[in-house]
Amino acid sequence: MERMEAESVDLTVTSPPYDDLRNYNGYSFDFEGVAAGLLRVTKPGGVVIWVVGDKINGGRTLSSFRQGIRFQKIGFQMHDVMIYRKKNTPFMRSNAYTNAFEFMFVLSKGSPKTFNPLKEPTVRSGYEMVVHNKGPDAVNNKVLKELKKEKTRTNIWAYAVGMGGTTRDKVAFKHPAVFPEKLADDHIRSWTEPGDLVFDPMCGSGTTPKMALLCERDYIGVDISPEYVAIAEQRIEAYGHIAG
Ligand SMILES: C[S@@+](CC[C@H](N)C(=O)[O-])C[C@H]1O[C@@H](n2cnc3c(N)ncnc32)[C@H](O)[C@@H]1O
Repeated sequence: MERMEAESVDLTVTSPPYDDLRNYNGYSFDFEGVAAGLLRVTKPGGVVIWVVGDKINGGRTLSSFRQGIRFQKIGFQMHDVMIYRKKNTPFMRSNAYTNAFEFMFVLSKGSPKTFNPLKEPTVRSGYEMVVHNKGPDAVNNKVLKELKKEKTRTNIWAYAVGMGGTTRDKVAFKHPAVFPEKLADDHIRSWTEPGDLVFDPMCGSGTTPKMALLCERDYIGVDISPEYVAIAEQRIEAYGHIAG
C-alpha cells in the first residue's frame, strides 16, 4: 500500500484476518498500519467496506467493535454498520444461538461521493386504493394508485455461502475464508461507477478484484501469501485480464 498514490482509491472491499480464527499460512496483520494506509489511499468521498467478525471463545472478542472505533478515531466516518447474513451456517454453540452474521462497516472519507442504491421488489404491487391528500375537512380521500414495484434494500444483506453460493470457482476454496462474490459485486455497484478504482489489500482468493473486473472497474488486489495470490490470479485470468 505504501507504493500506492495518496487519494487514488474510490472503494476498498476487504476482510481482515479475524483475531487468530484461521491461520492464513502463518501471516499476521498490522491493523493500525492497514487502517492508516487505507485512510491515505482513499479519495475524498471514497469508501472502505470492512467485512469483519469476532472470534467466539467463551464470549465474543469484540475486536470488530474496537477496529470500528479506531477507524473513527483516525478520521473515517462510520457511514453505516451493515450486516452480512449467512443463509446457511452450521450449528456452532451449545449455550448461545448460532452466529449467522458478520459486520460490514461502511467507512467513508467524508460523505460518500457515489451511492447507487440497490433495489428489491416490493411485496405488494399492482393498483390499490390509497389515502390521498387529507383536506381541511379531515376526510380521507382515496384514489386508485399504482404501488411502487421496487424499493431500496435494507442494510441487512443475505447470501448463501459455500460452493455455488460464495462462488462457483472450485479453486477459491483452497483459501479458508472466501467471502461471497455477490457481496463484493453489490458493494462495488453501490459505491462506485464504471472505471473507478477498487482495492483489496488482503484479497485472499481474489474475490474483490474478480468482481471489480466483471463490473468494469479498475482494481488492485494484494495479499501477503504468494499461494493465495496464485489462486486470485487463476480466478481472474479465467476472465482474460491480469494487470502487471
Ligand atoms: C479473510 S481473508 C480474505 C479473503 C478474501 N476476501 C476472499 O474472498 O478470498 C484475509 C486475508 O488477509 C491476508 N493477510 C494476512 N496478513 C496480511 C498482511 N500483513 N498483508 C496482506 N495480506 C494479509 C491473508 O493471507 C488472507 O488471505
